[in-house]
Amino acid sequence: MSQASKGLEGIVAGQTAVAIIDEAGGGLQYRGYRLSDLTDHATFEEVAHLLLNGHLPTEQEYQDYLARLAALRDLPGALKSVLEQIPASAHPMDVLRTGVSMLGCLEPEGKDRNGLSIATRLVACLPSMLMYWYQVSHEGKKIDVTAGGNTIAAHFLSLLGGGAASATHQKALDVSLILYAEHEFNASTFTARTVTSTLSDFYSAITGAIGALRGPLHGGANEAAMELMQRFDTPEAAEKGILEALATKQKIMGFGHRVYKHCDPRSDVIKVWAKRLADENETGKKLFAVAERIEQIMRREKDLFPNLDFYSAVVYHQCGIPTPLFTPLFVMSRVTGWSAHILEQRADNRIIRPTSEYIGERNLTVAPRAERG
Ligand code: COA
Repeated sequence: MSQASKGLEGIVAGQTAVAIIDEAGGGLQYRGYRLSDLTDHATFEEVAHLLLNGHLPTEQEYQDYLARLAALRDLPGALKSVLEQIPASAHPMDVLRTGVSMLGCLEPEGKDRNGLSIATRLVACLPSMLMYWYQVSHEGKKIDVTAGGNTIAAHFLSLLGGGAASATHQKALDVSLILYAEHEFNASTFTARTVTSTLSDFYSAITGAIGALRGPLHGGANEAAMELMQRFDTPEAAEKGILEALATKQKIMGFGHRVYKHCDPRSDVIKVWAKRLADENETGKKLFAVAERIEQIMRREKDLFPNLDFYSAVVYHQCGIPTPLFTPLFVMSRVTGWSAHILEQRADNRIIRPTSEYIGERNLTVAPRAERG
C-alpha cells in the first residue's frame, strides 16, 4: 500500500502564526483576526501592515505606511527598459516574474536592504511594473507610474484607466485584495517557503511563488473562470454548457478547494460585491445571472461550491479590468502573505526536503550501447 499522500493532502508540513483556516471554528484568520472583521473594518494597506509587521497600524503608522508605499512606487530606468522589450503577447504573469527578477538584480538583498524592506518595495511597485508594461506594449504609452490615488487599489485602477476610478470600484478591489492576501500553506506560499529554506534570496522566493500561482489549479483559476462565463449569453446556455462539460469530466475553474470542504468563506464576501456592481448595469446583471446559474448547477450536480476566484472574476470584469490582469492582481495582494511566510521561515529555518516513495525499477545492468534495444 502507498505510503505517500498524493498532492501532500492532509500533511502538516510546518508551523505558522500567519494564518489559520478553521472551517469548523472562526473561519479564516490573519494573525488572529477574523477575515470578515478585516474586510468590514480595515483596508488592504492595514492588512499588509498586519501581515508584514505583525500588528495592525495605529493611525500615525497607517498614514506613514501609505506615504512610504507611495514613495516606493517608481521603477528604476533599467527595469523600465526591460519591460519595454516584453511583447504585448506575453502573459502578464510572466511580466511580473521577469520584473521581480530584474528588480532583484538592480536592488539586491544585502546589508542595506533586508527582507522586510524588499517586501514593502514589492507591495508598492508591483502595480507600477505591471501597468508600465501593459500601457507601453498595448497603447505605446510610457506612463508616469507615480501618479494615482493613495491606496494600492486606487493606484492600480488609475494606471489602468488613466484617471481616478469610482469609489465603488476602488472599494470592491480593496476588499478583494484583503481576501487574496494570505491563505497559509497553499502551493505558491509553500513554494516560497521551500525556496527560502535553502537560504536563497527574497526575490528568488517571490519569483518561484509567482510561477506556482500562475497555473489554473491555483491563481490562474480567476482568469479561466472568466473565460468560461463569457462563453454563455444566458443562464440557460450556461446550464447546457456546464452539464456538457461535467459529462466529459472537465473541471470547472473557480470551484472546489483542497482544504475547505463545505464552502469558501471568502466567496460569500466577494459575491456581495459582485452583485452590488452587477446591479448598476444591464451587462453586469447578465453576467451575474450566468455566474449564479453555474453556481447552482455545481452545487446540484457535484456538491461543489465557488471558491474566491469565481466571483472575484465577476468583480474584476465589472471594474473594467482585462481578464489577463486578474491573476497578477492576486500577486499584488498575495505578495504580502508570501513575504510574511518567507520572514517566518527564516526566523526558524530548516531546509524543506521531504522524501519519496520509490516506485521504479532496481538493480538493472548497464549493457554496451550496441546491445541496447
Ligand atoms: N470541477 C469539477 N470537478 C471537480 C472540481 C471542479 N472545479 N474540483 C474538484 N472536482 C472533482 C474532481 O474531478 C474529483 O472527482 P473524482 O473523485 O470523481 O475524480 C474530486 O472532485 C476531487 O478533486 P481533486 O482535483 O482530486 O481535488 P484536489 O483537492 O486535488 O484539488 C482543486 C483542489 C482546487 C485544485 C480542485 O478543486 C480544482 O481543480 N478546482 C478548479 C481550479 C480552481 O478553482 N482552483 C482555485 C483554488 S482556490
